[in-house]
Amino acid sequence: MTETQLKNVAGAAEAGVPATPLIEVRDLKVWFPIRRGVVARTVGYVRAVDGVSLKIFRGETVGLVGESGCGKTTLGRSILRLEKAAAGTVCLEGRDLLALSERQLRPLRRRMQMVFQDPFSCLNPRMTAMTIVTEGLRQHNLLEGDRAEVAANLLSEVGLDSDALYRYPHEFSGGQRQRLSIARALSLHPDFIVCDEPVSALDVSVQAQVINLLLDLRARHGLSYLFISHDLSVVRLISHRVAVMYLGQIVETGPAADVIGAPLHPYTQALVSAIPVPGRKKKKRILLEGDLPSPVHPPPGCRFHTRCHRAMDICSRREPKLYAQRGRRVQCHLYESKLEAVED
Ligand SMILES: Nc1ncnc2c1ncn2[C@@H]1O[C@H](COP(=O)(O)OP(=O)(O)O)[C@@H](O)[C@H]1O
Ligand code: SF4
Ligand SMILES: [Mg+2]
Repeated sequence: MTETQLKNVAGAAEAGVPATPLIEVRDLKVWFPIRRGVVARTVGYVRAVDGVSLKIFRGETVGLVGESGCGKTTLGRSILRLEKAAAGTVCLEGRDLLALSERQLRPLRRRMQMVFQDPFSCLNPRMTAMTIVTEGLRQHNLLEGDRAEVAANLLSEVGLDSDALYRYPHEFSGGQRQRLSIARALSLHPDFIVCDEPVSALDVSVQAQVINLLLDLRARHGLSYLFISHDLSVVRLISHRVAVMYLGQIVETGPAADVIGAPLHPYTQALVSAIPVPGRKKKKRILLEGDLPSPVHPPPGCRFHTRCHRAMDICSRREPKLYAQRGRRVQCHLYESKLEAVED
């Protein structure tokens, strides 16, 4: 899908024209209990994801960006139901995944896959590449024909030779291992892949190769990605839209070029100021002071007020509404008189 077509789909949804997203997350909350004492009494919650709404359309890549610890991985995992949600809904083509039993969910699981930051830790060290990339097919009773041939085709899709078939994960380089884990994700012909920091552990030159591979596969198979990274300069290489996350919430979304070219939220402005963008005049870096506050006791009002370079009195007292403008959304008091307030 081209960028213009994607903007049209997102625009249609904004204008109220029905266009069912592939994935629709509504007011999702994932809270991890903090337990203490011999009886493991719950004394509080880590609000890792705290009221997130997000749509991802078919063929679209949404880049999810934010500092380490802001809840990106938990959001990605909870969309795939690998984490239990405390509240909210996650729909795959309109069907609420959180309301399904494990048995009902099983046939849908193959449509949604995940690629991790560190493929080494999630590839079984005792399995050959052939077994790794065909194991999912076998478990779903979808393995047809010669296993070696099926595996060789999958390896070739990700740019690995068939002489890799009988090698073990430790015999591959970091980039090759990531290719292997992408082949494993592809084997079940998914519609949607959560890519969780897939290039963060790789050398810069290898990062570009893996991003190019993901772009190729997206074009060839019409895949949708949630592409998670703490690094906006990586996210902008692959994303149609960007969602910026801060302390369990999404504070800004919009087309990638707009969000990165002219960020609205002060947090996004700080993240963008840290990366060189071609065609954009060099601006002064906005330093983010202090650490990310604890998600156990998020600051009142706007969660970002303790670190915001534009903070006003009202920011510590009242939670900002969500404001929208042409496919963009931002949650910040600065836009109260400039943009239209909307519901999620
Ligand atoms: N299983 C867990 N139990 C308790 N806290 C967790 C768990 N997983 C993540 N967290 C906490 O949730 C918050 C968000 O973590 P995470 O989703 O990994 O963020 P990110 O991927 O953006 O770095 C962090 O404070 C982290 O410590
Ligand atoms: S609401 Fe206030 S504190 Fe929050 S981002 Fe906007 S200006 Fe900054
Ligand atoms: Mg993470």
